[in-house]
Amino acid sequence: MTAKELRQKYLDFFKEKGHTVIPSAPLLPENDPTVLFTTAGMHPLVPYLLGEKHPAGTKLTSVQKCIRTVDIDNVGDDSHLTFFEMLGNWSLGDYFKKESIEMSFEFLTEVEWLNIPIEKLAVTVFKGDKDAPKDEESAEIWKSLGIPEDRIAYLGKKDNWWGPAGATGPCGPDTEIFYWVGDGDPHGNPEENENDWMEIWNNVFMEYNKTKDNQFIPLEQKNVDTGLGLDRVAAVLMGKKNVFETDLFQPIIEKIGSLTNVPYSENPNSYRIIADHIRCATFLAGDGVKPSNIDQGYVMRRLMRRAIRHGKILGIEENFTHIIAKKVIHMMGDVYPELKHEEEILQTFQTEEEQFRKTIDKGLREFEKLTDRMVSKTISGEDAFHLYDTYGFPIEMTEELAVERHLEVNRKGFDNAFGKHQELSRAGAEQKFAGGLQDNSEATTSLHTATHLLHAALRHVLGDHVEQKGSNITAERLRFDFSHPDKLTPEQIEQVEKFVNDAIKSDAKVICDTKTVEEAKGSGAIGLFESKYGEDVKVYTMGDWSMEICGGPHVEHLGQLGQFKIKKEQSSSAGIRRIKAVLID
Ligand code: ALA
Repeated sequence: MTAKELRQKYLDFFKEKGHTVIPSAPLLPENDPTVLFTTAGMHPLVPYLLGEKHPAGTKLTSVQKCIRTVDIDNVGDDSHLTFFEMLGNWSLGDYFKKESIEMSFEFLTEVEWLNIPIEKLAVTVFKGDKDAPKDEESAEIWKSLGIPEDRIAYLGKKDNWWGPAGATGPCGPDTEIFYWVGDGDPHGNPEENENDWMEIWNNVFMEYNKTKDNQFIPLEQKNVDTGLGLDRVAAVLMGKKNVFETDLFQPIIEKIGSLTNVPYSENPNSYRIIADHIRCATFLAGDGVKPSNIDQGYVMRRLMRRAIRHGKILGIEENFTHIIAKKVIHMMGDVYPELKHEEEILQTFQTEEEQFRKTIDKGLREFEKLTDRMVSKTISGEDAFHLYDTYGFPIEMTEELAVERHLEVNRKGFDNAFGKHQELSRAGAEQKFAGGLQDNSEATTSLHTATHLLHAALRHVLGDHVEQKGSNITAERLRFDFSHPDKLTPEQIEQVEKFVNDAIKSDAKVICDTKTVEEAKGSGAIGLFESKYGEDVKVYTMGDWSMEICGGPHVEHLGQLGQFKIKKEQSSSAGIRRIKAVLID
């Protein structure tokens, strides 16, 4: 059976049992600041598990894309993944334990569905504690279906309790179903032979709401929430030892193989890390995430940069992540339409990889030098921060490099250095917001006016997606950072220069008005709009060339500026370009 067939069979089965198929929600949870990612199929359903009415009814089923980053360091072994698909079915105050367990059993064992022999199945149930009683009922139901007592293990909260997905919310005892992956005849249960039994399905009986003060309050509406990992079950059904050998990964592994002379058998670890991480990052890009230094963007950057390093271990020295991403899109695009923005997704990969490749070699050399001269076994926080700040090494990557050499990283020291850096950049942001110049000399003021014209020119030539991301002006030059995915072509640079020089030639007057933020926005001014509602701001208008919110100062008329020349155009960070320019008398 292929993974595609398995997805479809699952949904068909539960449709037959009266469930409505709902689409996968995005990977970034909507309206839930407590977690970065959707980690389970129940996540988008939390309000409904707490009692709100779902428009599709009380019985639902879905294939939900999920990301769990807790196991990111274990990716490379047989079973851990960051991105996975979870098949699930839900009862919102409808059926409960009996029907839920019976349906799972039927789907797994009936000939027309998965046809798994009963002997290969074992289960665990909740053994009870101060918050909830032992789940005798589930154990009885399993026995009535033919699961013998010695295949049932009774375990505590750590194993047989699920949720909440965030700090608070719906949760409850669960019963988990395991498949025999050991050698020889199945024996024992998941408690006695932990490594021989692999969990494939979890049925959670959501009867409680966990509150902020750690209370478990019984829910009025008793729900069922189940989750079956598609990748794992696909492996089981295809008779494969691990998820990377299934048709969910084989084409990706083969694609990686076509880019390197190192065969899979020689370094499965790097192959698997690349396959998992790029698949995950592709789905993140599909949901609009861009690599950055915070939150989901940081996870994406970390995944991509780790994959790039493992590409280097396999001898891949050219940009390649977009090739793998393309493969993922072609494999999964029909199930997940959000992957259809292929060009945009691939551009995200190109941009990030291009940027990281500029610094990774130097960074790796720096790491070697650093470790060569080390006397202790611990890399200092400052050194780790230097690798992060100068070469773009995520701290986790430095830690991985350290582990490979039996070294450690002073993580606390890194966090301290990082904290200081954040304070500095906050101070930088405040300075920027105040709109002040380093000095009010004529040269600096002229370059400040030229910066406005440059900003307008970039939007004119490249499009309205261009936004100011940073500006730094000295008496010698201006430096301007802006959002744009690609390197500017020589023609574009010429057009930008021409726009600015035409503006200068027009000798338009520079006019300053005071407006409310709303008026400024209404009149089409660009610039920082973060000021409070109703607050007055200064708007500088330069003929028809530019209108921008700014604290000033500026020259009185554009003819004062001389000739504008771009000296350098380069990448500043992912998706951000940097221009350095001067005015020549
Ligand atoms: N929410 C449950 C899980 O993720 C089904 O295992």
